[in-house]
Amino acid sequence: MSFSRAAESLFLALLLGGVLTQVGCFSFNFPNFTDTDSSSLIMQNLNSRVDVGAIQVTPNVRVDSDLQNKSGRAFYSKQFRLWRKSKDVQASFNTTFVLNIVPQTIPGAEGMAFILAADATTLPQSSDGQWLGIVNAATNGSSEAKVVAVELDTRKSYPEDIDDNHVGLDVNSIFSIKQVSLGDYGVNLSEAVDVTVRVQYDGKNMTVSVMTNGTGEFTPVISLPLILSDYLPEKVFLGFSASTGNYTELNCVRSWEFEGSDIGEDRNLLWVWITVPAVLVLISGIVFCLYWERKHRERPEDTYTGIEDQIQGSSMAPQKFNLRELRKATGNFNLKNKLGKGGFGTVYKGVLPNKVVAVKRVSKDSRQGKQEFIAEVTTIGSLRHRNLVKLIGWCYEKRELLIVYEYMPHGSLDKFIFGDEKLGLEEEPLSWERRHIIIHGVAQALDYLHNGCEKRVLHRDIKASNIMLDTDFNARLGDFGLARTIQQSDVTHHSTKEIAGTPGYMAPETFLVGRATVETDVYAFGVLVLEVICGRKPGGIKGDQQNDYNNGIVYWLWELRTKDRMLDAVDSKIIGQFDKDEMAGMLILGLACCHPNPLQRPSMKTVLQVITGEAPPPMLPTERPAFMWPAAMPPSFKEDTENASINSQVTFTELTGR
Ligand SMILES: *[C@@H]1O[C@H](CO)[C@@H](O)[C@H](O)[C@H]1NC(C)=O
Ligand SMILES: *[C@@H]1O[C@H](CO)[C@@H](O)[C@H](O)[C@H]1NC(C)=O
Ligand SMILES: *[C@@H]1O[C@H](CO)[C@@H](O)[C@H](O)[C@H]1NC(C)=O
Ligand SMILES: *[C@@H]1O[C@H](CO)[C@@H](O)[C@H](O)[C@H]1NC(C)=O
Ligand SMILES: *[C@@H]1O[C@H](CO)[C@@H](O)[C@H](O)[C@H]1NC(C)=O
Repeated sequence: MSFSRAAESLFLALLLGGVLTQVGCFSFNFPNFTDTDSSSLIMQNLNSRVDVGAIQVTPNVRVDSDLQNKSGRAFYSKQFRLWRKSKDVQASFNTTFVLNIVPQTIPGAEGMAFILAADATTLPQSSDGQWLGIVNAATNGSSEAKVVAVELDTRKSYPEDIDDNHVGLDVNSIFSIKQVSLGDYGVNLSEAVDVTVRVQYDGKNMTVSVMTNGTGEFTPVISLPLILSDYLPEKVFLGFSASTGNYTELNCVRSWEFEGSDIGEDRNLLWVWITVPAVLVLISGIVFCLYWERKHRERPEDTYTGIEDQIQGSSMAPQKFNLRELRKATGNFNLKNKLGKGGFGTVYKGVLPNKVVAVKRVSKDSRQGKQEFIAEVTTIGSLRHRNLVKLIGWCYEKRELLIVYEYMPHGSLDKFIFGDEKLGLEEEPLSWERRHIIIHGVAQALDYLHNGCEKRVLHRDIKASNIMLDTDFNARLGDFGLARTIQQSDVTHHSTKEIAGTPGYMAPETFLVGRATVETDVYAFGVLVLEVICGRKPGGIKGDQQNDYNNGIVYWLWELRTKDRMLDAVDSKIIGQFDKDEMAGMLILGLACCHPNPLQRPSMKTVLQVITGEAPPPMLPTERPAFMWPAAMPPSFKEDTENASINSQVTFTELTGR
């Protein structure tokens, strides 16, 4: 055990030993929920569980077929001290959580609540339906209930409820002391979207705020004087309750952050005065030692060789470069040599003694960590296709992660179709023939990724700026920073759970399913086809990804299709260069790939046949189909027994909209 390990352990032991609780604060943060988080949560019955990145307070479709008349509660495992008798002290707290309610019937019901409760051992019996898991017919209105709740109700289940979309403050009763309709704040709880709620308590008043749509800011909806110690014991459990009734919904908590003051136990203060400074001195010592050690050693054992082993261990290991060579090739990453900026880093032109290359320097603060780096190097390193950018080598030294690709003299497709606004450069517009060849090339590359290689690969970030053009203007698909391989042999092989991509190119179900599938790649491809033909950006609105389908290029084309005027959409720069029937077929193909129902999207195999004229374009309605969910599930979704749940349980931080 190295010195730093020992020091780290000691440091942790000191913290965990609770030495600092006297002056600390009571806080925790779940940016999302993983299976391991279950151990820090108390689930009150089998209805609640952690699944697909969220707390499912009531049953989720993956595990339970019966969603009706259920209630559940999930608590943080440690109690929070709200007040202290001897000192007459009240704690304060501030908590923010993200809920996502997905109706399973029309309408969905009943609702969820953030609760503070005396008891975490038993769920009130028959607290389903209108009771929201907070109380039941027997305890409603009784001081014995010992529960305070902020309810988010999706059903008007009795006359006292103002409507089916409100927030209320409940004390030992389901009949709120105050309730406010969320419609006034632009929030609709039943829309299967993230709803961010903040509850603050300062020892005197309780304030509930919601994040209003669009503005991204919190607006207080309820602010009331409330002395929690009048109703609750000194220590309480914090958590969530929810219920369903005849009508059902999925009640998910996707993230939860809590900060409370720690008013501590009644302990001897003198002890604190002695211990705290001593511990601080010790910690500074340790921190200094750690710093010193880091500085003097690059710690090769756990980083460098780890990466090297994993990359070299893969079957087709690309060449390893050393940092000095690549620094020299790129003029020490001189801005003059900058070719572009990708999702995970900056790409530079590099001149090696025998060839010109493109070097991607993964930025240190990007989300592409070591694992993604290894994934990218080994994924594309082992792929060979003439429509994929070839990976030549890699380098990992001094914490620099570098990937070396073949150099693409013409850069990326976007600047040829949209022009490069920043530089004010307008490249020679590409002819229709060229564009057709490019679309064909990308389709071949995707078909290869999906069906042609040993492991299925989802690209997950198909877009014009990730299509490179080689010397002959052939398309080369690049930027595999987000790509994931999936074992073909595996049953659960069609999807990957983490959500990522670029607004405008993301299929409408992405946010509900919460992961990428072959069908979401096909959707992005469809958007690409449309933009290449129309010379128009996809136009998804950032921050409103859920409504991509209702915006932008796809919507626009549906409008034109309904009016039977699709050809109006074609880029004016290629007018007169195409056969009208062929062009109409390509537009229909693009739209078919963007069908809101993933089941209806063609496979890349079919896409290729249509492009080469071997098959007619897919059948497509003349009216824009509405996005229905969960009306249909992609084929990959049903088979996927491991991850399935009709939910949007991906934390927002995982969305790499860019
Ligand atoms: C659910 O509860 C309601 C009201 O108590 C009852 O009428 C209904 O039959 C129950 N449904 C099921 C499936 O148990
Ligand atoms: C507490 O409230 C402040 C704003 O008043 C906010 O910035 C902070 O993130 C909150 N913390 C939690 C855990 O909600
Ligand atoms: C809220 O959204 C649901 C589901 O989309 C819809 O049925 C309902 O009418 C909406 N409610 C309001 C008040 O807009
Ligand atoms: C908090 O409560 C006090 C007294 O009950 C009141 O004067 C004050 O305005 C309240 N503050 C807020 C922010 O509601
Ligand atoms: C639930 O459905 C049952 C049977 O359809 C009905 O008798 C009952 O009144 C409903 N309960 C509620 C709370 O809507």
